Amino acid sequence: MTEKDRYAVFGNPIKHSKSPLIHAMFAQQCSQQMLYRAVRVELDGFAQAASNFFNGGGAGLNVTVPFKREAFEFANRLSERAAQAGAVNTLTRAPDGVIEGDNTDGIGLVRDLIANLGWAVQGLRVLLIGAGGAARGVLEPLLQECPQELLVVNRTGSRAAQLAMEFADVGPLEGGAYGLIGARQFDLVINATSAGLSGAMPELPGSLLTERSCCYDMVYGAEPTPFMRWAAFHAAWAVADGLGMLVEQAAESFYIWRGVRPETGPVINELRQVIAAA
Ligand code: ATR
Repeated sequence: MTEKDRYAVFGNPIKHSKSPLIHAMFAQQCSQQMLYRAVRVELDGFAQAASNFFNGGGAGLNVTVPFKREAFEFANRLSERAAQAGAVNTLTRAPDGVIEGDNTDGIGLVRDLIANLGWAVQGLRVLLIGAGGAARGVLEPLLQECPQELLVVNRTGSRAAQLAMEFADVGPLEGGAYGLIGARQFDLVINATSAGLSGAMPELPGSLLTERSCCYDMVYGAEPTPFMRWAAFHAAWAVADGLGMLVEQAAESFYIWRGVRPETGPVINELRQVIAAA
């Protein structure tokens, strides 16, 4: 019997990671012989752990908080989207031994918005909240969908302004503090802050929503997040969490590694039940 190809997700914390379950479901669905496990890596130990993994014959890694920037530095070769994002969530050992870095977060978000939820980006007024790694990773794929405008706002306005400068050549982008919202309204509002993880909610005026606005939180959980509750309170048209994005980014990594595209719908549904039951 040949040995199964080995994959893992590196992060810290990692205990609640759903990635092993998602990849196990993909592998079963696509009849792939592979192993995938979650590994908690010490905060100062990413490069060493990743070297050990690949030197030991590992085939591919997913990388999550807080190591996406370090994974970017670790990769020997970068995809265009990883280079643009400045962050890597997927590392792959190529046949020539080179470690390739890619970023599937942005495409994961866009697929969830468009293919799963049936929302749109093209021609719309889009507001992205947050200017950390999560926001940076999705900016280019969002701009490629040709929104009418994209405003990035952040508690620390200078970080959003900096992002807007960096991505200025990709599309119509503005960035700064929450005050930039003023009396403007948006069709699609995406929360890319980590505020919800501590039960907080960015201080946004409810007036930025119309009765046709869609609100998406890149975070997910068994309960609606503070941002989702805010959106529902202000009568948004539709509200969603980031579970679909999680599965879609995993599907893209799986495709990079195995060359097969899993069907994501049943996996999202099953995962939703697992999370609700936990
Ligand atoms: P990630 O990789 O998840 O993006 P990060 O790079 O640490 O993590 O960025 C966290 C983001 O959430 C930032 O935009 C941060 O705002 P600041 O740049 O002002 O720190 C935002 N954030 C975290 N807690 C927040 C809160 N309570 N209210 C508003 N924004 C918050």
